[in-house]
Amino acid sequence: MITLTVTDRAGTSSTLAPVADKTLMEALRSAGHDVAGTCGGACSCGTCHVYVAAADLARLAPAGADERDMLEALADVVPVTAGSRLACQLPVDATLAGISIEIAPQP
Ligand code: FES
Repeated sequence: MITLTVTDRAGTSSTLAPVADKTLMEALRSAGHDVAGTCGGACSCGTCHVYVAAADLARLAPAGADERDMLEALADVVPVTAGSRLACQLPVDATLAGISIEIAPQP
C-alpha cells in the first residue's frame, strides 16, 4: 500500500492511502476530499487541480499536452504554479508513494 500526504484547502494535512482507485483524483474523492472531478478525468474541468511539493515533482511523469492546456486555462482563475498538476492525470502507482500534495482552490 502506498501513502501520501494531502493538505486540504483549510490547511489540514492527512494521510491518504489509495486502495482501489485508478487515479489520484478518484482516490481523493473516495477519501471524502472536496475534489469534484466534474469531467470524470477528461482533462477539461480543472476541479482536480493540486499542487505537488517541489521536492516530489521530479518523481512524476511530465504533464501531457491536454493537461498543460487545462492548467494554462486554469491560470486565468486560480494560481497555477510549477507544482500544479491535475490529479485525474496521475495514476495511483508507486510514483505517488510518500509525496505531498495540496488541494488547489476551486476554479
Ligand atoms: S477531473 Fe476534470 S480535469 Fe481532472
